[in-house]
Amino acid sequence: MTRLFRLLLLDLLLVVRGALWRLLLRLQGGRMGPGARLYGGARIVMGASGARIEIAPNFRMLRFAIINTLPPAGRVVIGKWVHLGEGSMVTASERVEIGDDVVIGPQTLIVDTDHGYHDPAQPIRIQGLVSRPILIEQGVWIAGHVTILKGVRIGRGAIVGAGAVVSRDIPPLAIAVGVPARVIRYRLGAPRGGDA
Ligand SMILES: CC(C)(COP(=O)(O)OP(=O)(O)OC[C@H]1O[C@@H](n2cnc3c(N)ncnc32)[C@H](O)[C@@H]1OP(=O)(O)O)[C@@H](O)C(=O)NCCC(=O)NCCS
Repeated sequence: MTRLFRLLLLDLLLVVRGALWRLLLRLQGGRMGPGARLYGGARIVMGASGARIEIAPNFRMLRFAIINTLPPAGRVVIGKWVHLGEGSMVTASERVEIGDDVVIGPQTLIVDTDHGYHDPAQPIRIQGLVSRPILIEQGVWIAGHVTILKGVRIGRGAIVGAGAVVSRDIPPLAIAVGVPARVIRYRLGAPRGGDA
């Protein structure tokens, strides 16, 4: 078998898998545009009544990536040409929105929810969830092993370096690294500061 043939076969498999996931999502009231490629082990779970997942065309979801919705009505909205890296996870119990052309590296966690923990006399597992929506604007690059916490907005075209934990907003075109993530500089030509 030639290399080209093998590549075509692999792509055909990805197209078929993408089409099956499209159908599955539609049956559950979600939506995924055409041109999606989902690699082996990728999973999209609409785990709550009232949950909704909307994905624009040409989505790329690498091996073992997961999109998950939690009660009461988690909503995930993903723009076109978004890349979700290997083993990465997007989880919403309120709302996670990811703009067009966003690249998300491997093993990254985007979660809009904490466990409630304010009553020390009660187990955390029965204290409910605390959620605030996450917004990742168009053209952002989130590297590998990043964690994005509830309520955060990452401005258009920003970069989040490997291993960062993002607990506060990142302005547009900023490059942010570390735990917690701090802006180290802005992309070439970009003015300092931003409107995030
Ligand atoms: C953020 C990143 C893009 C910056 O790259 P760069 O512009 O070449 O930056 P530099 O290497 O010049 O680093 C600038 C400073 O930030 C520090 N830095 C860079 N990346 C860092 C990171 N992820 N965490 C902590 N500090 C970091 C550097 O040590 C350096 O510090 P110094 O000025 O004190 O020496 C890059 O470091 C990175 O994290 N890449 C992600 C790789 C990845 O996950 N790829 C997966 C594919 S999606």
